[in-house]
Amino acid sequence: MATFEPVLMRNVGVEDSTSLKVYESRGGYQAFKKALAMSPDDVVAEVKKANLRGRGGAGFPAGVKWGFLPKDRTRTLLCVNGDESEPPTFSNRVLMENDPHQLIEGTIIAGYATQAQVAYIYLRVEFHEQFHVLQNAVDEAYAAGYLGKDIGNGYKLDIYLHRGAGAYVCGEETGLIESLEGKRGWPRIKPPFPAVQGLFRLPTVVNNVETLSNVPHIIERGADWFTSIGPSHSTGPKLFCVSGPVQRPGCYEAAMDITCRDLIERDDFGGGMLSGKSVKGVLPGGVSMGILTADELDMKMDFDDPRNYGLLGLGTAAAVVIDQDVDMRVVLRNMARFYGTESCGQCTQCREGTGWMHRIATRIAEGAGRIEDLDVLLETARNMGMMPGLSICGLPDGATYPIETIVKKFRQELEEAIRSQPPGRADMVLSVLN
Ligand SMILES: Cc1cc2nc3c(=O)[nH]c(=O)nc-3n(C[C@H](O)[C@H](O)[C@H](O)COP(=O)(O)O)c2cc1C
Ligand code: SF4
Repeated sequence: MATFEPVLMRNVGVEDSTSLKVYESRGGYQAFKKALAMSPDDVVAEVKKANLRGRGGAGFPAGVKWGFLPKDRTRTLLCVNGDESEPPTFSNRVLMENDPHQLIEGTIIAGYATQAQVAYIYLRVEFHEQFHVLQNAVDEAYAAGYLGKDIGNGYKLDIYLHRGAGAYVCGEETGLIESLEGKRGWPRIKPPFPAVQGLFRLPTVVNNVETLSNVPHIIERGADWFTSIGPSHSTGPKLFCVSGPVQRPGCYEAAMDITCRDLIERDDFGGGMLSGKSVKGVLPGGVSMGILTADELDMKMDFDDPRNYGLLGLGTAAAVVIDQDVDMRVVLRNMARFYGTESCGQCTQCREGTGWMHRIATRIAEGAGRIEDLDVLLETARNMGMMPGLSICGLPDGATYPIETIVKKFRQELEEAIRSQPPGRADMVLSVLN
C-alpha cells in the first residue's frame, strides 16, 4: 500500500504549531496569497473541480454549495461549523487546537471565493481551550494583515468566534444560525436554504472545520492533486477518529479507501483490540449512521460504501468499537436516550418518536422488554425523520439508523435477552413505567 503523507495533520506534534511564525515557516498563508491573485470565481471552480465533499456529515460538495449563492447578492456571510456535537467525534477539535491558522487560512479563502464580508466560527461550549487557541491565532492574523481591511485584491474580512450553549441540534446548520442570532437553537424549515436566506436573513454559507481546512491545500497544490487521493467520489485526505477498547484510540488521517478493519487493526491506526477483547460491533460514522457487525468490517470508509451495509452514510467518520462483553440492550438504550434528550421538540414525530424509542429501549435494558417491542422500535423508526418528509431537520434520521440497525443486526441477542428475563418481570415493570 502506498504511504500516505498527512496533509491536514502535518503540523500536529510540531512544537509551537499554533503560532503564526511556525505556520508560516511551514508554508502557511502561501495559498492565501495565491487565491487572492485569482478571481473569486476561479477559486470556486478549483474547489468544485476537486470535488471537496463536506466533512460535517452530509458530504455535500463545497464548491457546488458556494455556487448556490445568488449572483446579485450584495452581502454574504460565512459560518464555520465547529460545534462538533456528534458523539465520539473529535477531529475538528484536533485541527483547531493544533493548527488554528490552517482553519483561518481556509476560512479566508472560502470567504474570498464567496465574497463574504464576515465569518463566524461557531464553537461548542466545551471548547474552552480551543476558543483561546483560535482567538490568539485570529489576533495574530489581524496583526499580520491577513484579516481586516483590504487584505489583498480589495478584499476585507472579519472573523468572530462564537460559543454555543451546549445543544446537539445547534450543529445542524440552521439551528446554528438561529443560535448565532441569539435565539433558541431551533432548526429552520427549508427552503429557503441558508445560501439564499441564512444568518440575519442574508445569503450564508455554512461549512465544517475540516472541510475548510482542506481548502488551502486545494489552492496550493491544485484540484488534480486532491482528486488523486482516494476513491473517485470520495476525494482528498480525511480524518478518522477511533475510540473504544483498542490499543491506540485517537484521530488519524488517511485516504478514504481505508476500511473500518484497517482503522481498528492496523498498527499505524487503532493497533488492534486490547488483550482479551474482540469486536462485537462498530458504530463507524459517529453514532447517527448505524452499526456494523464484526463480519462487516471490510466496509470502505468513503461516502458511498456505508449504504451497502444499511448505514445512513459516512457521517463524521468516527468509529466507536464495541466489544463482546457489551450488552446490546445497553447500547440501544444509550442511543435512544441521547436522541430523546437532544430532540428540540418542534416536530411531533421527532419529539414523540425519540421519546417512545427511549422509553421502550429503557424497559428492554431494564429486563422488562417484550419481543413485540423490537417491532415497535422498527416501526417508530420508519415513521419519523426528514426522509419520510415528517421533520424539519435530520436529527430523527440520525436517531433511527442506530436503533434500526442494532435491532435488525443484533435481533437474536436482543430476543434471547428478553426471553431470559424472569417470568412476570415485563408485566411488573411495565405497570410501573406506563
Ligand atoms: C442534528 C444534526 C447535528 C449536526 N451537527 C453538526 C456538527 O456538529 N458539525 C458539523 O459540521 N455539521 C453538523 N451537522 C451538519 C450541518 O447541518 C451541515 O450539513 C454542515 O455543517 C455543513 O458543512 P459541510 O458541508 O462542510 O459538511 C449536523 C446536522 C444535524 C442534522
Ligand atoms: S426534527 Fe427534531 S430536532 Fe429537528 S427540528 Fe424537528 S424536533 Fe427539532
